[in-house]
Amino acid sequence: MGENKKSVTITVNGDVYQLGVGNAVGEIAPADTLAETLRERLLLTGTKISCDDGACGCCTVIMNGKAIPSCTVLTIECDGADIRTIEGLQDPNTGELDKVQQAFVDHSAFQCGYCTPGIIMTTEALLAENPHPDEEEIKEALAGNYCRCISHYQVLEAVKQAAKEGSE
Ligand code: FES
Ligand code: FES
Repeated sequence: MGENKKSVTITVNGDVYQLGVGNAVGEIAPADTLAETLRERLLLTGTKISCDDGACGCCTVIMNGKAIPSCTVLTIECDGADIRTIEGLQDPNTGELDKVQQAFVDHSAFQCGYCTPGIIMTTEALLAENPHPDEEEIKEALAGNYCRCISHYQVLEAVKQAAKEGSE
């Protein structure tokens, strides 16, 4: 029930948030997942919730350098964590998309777009760890991200473009 935690501090896209834990207005409930906190409390709705069970990857964010499904962790377990969401990719000053986002645009690597933020965040984590993934490594990294619109072919091409740009 997390009764020992009176507040949780998380850093999201470089901004530090101290969140009170409890059931009062403005507090996060002990049972709130990170996905819920991001969307409902911090209004970072780029992170999507679909299965809410760790199976589809729509809610993927980067926490402490690793891509994780944010519906599977409680916010009270994230004290001290450094989190990056899709909102943190674009250059805040120029509005310029980062290279992965731009590659997805260039290849129209989405249809409804619901899965796209999760796929992009998984790709970001992959390229941070392995800037030159081959096709098999890309497929393996994205195996947990489902797309019901079958955008996979274009996604693969987009990730290959982003990986290529990373090598220049
Ligand atoms: S919504 Fe989190 S994995 Fe599906
Ligand atoms: S683009 Fe619609 S779920 Fe992937």
